[in-house]
Amino acid sequence: MAIRKILKFPDQDLRTKAENIAVFDDELKVLTDDMLETMYSVNGIGLAATQIGIHKRVAVIDISPEKNEPLIIINPEVEILDATKKEDYDEGCLSVPGFFETISRPSEIKLIYKNLEGSQKEIKPEGLLTKVIQHELDHLNGRLFVDHISQLKRRRIRNKIVKQK
Ligand code: NI
Repeated sequence: MAIRKILKFPDQDLRTKAENIAVFDDELKVLTDDMLETMYSVNGIGLAATQIGIHKRVAVIDISPEKNEPLIIINPEVEILDATKKEDYDEGCLSVPGFFETISRPSEIKLIYKNLEGSQKEIKPEGLLTKVIQHELDHLNGRLFVDHISQLKRRRIRNKIVKQK
């Protein structure tokens, strides 16, 4: 396993739309192992392949307190079950370190994905998991949580991160 470098906003590579995975092989297993190790190394709860510059539709998530319940989602698709129901949450992102903004997202969703073996799975997540899933799916589509806030705020965050470098 290896820790990979996490790209930081405003890196343009974070804007690339990821492609579906067709082959479920050892290479994919190595990638997800590395993604989990990378996420755990910085106490993250979610990491999309896009964030390490790999443009494939795979993300890893672990919201458990003990960090021992990894969820690997491949070719994920989210179905919004009730567009009128939304919840606010203060989101952060490993690619936008140190910044948190309140984001409103649908709270009633269904996640359809493939596991490491290529089997189709379906879950109806609750609470924090609904937010993390939608956040990671955004990454795979080249979007960041700061795209949900005003341009003014986004520019301010970008300038601060650029200055830190
Ligand atoms: Ni993120």
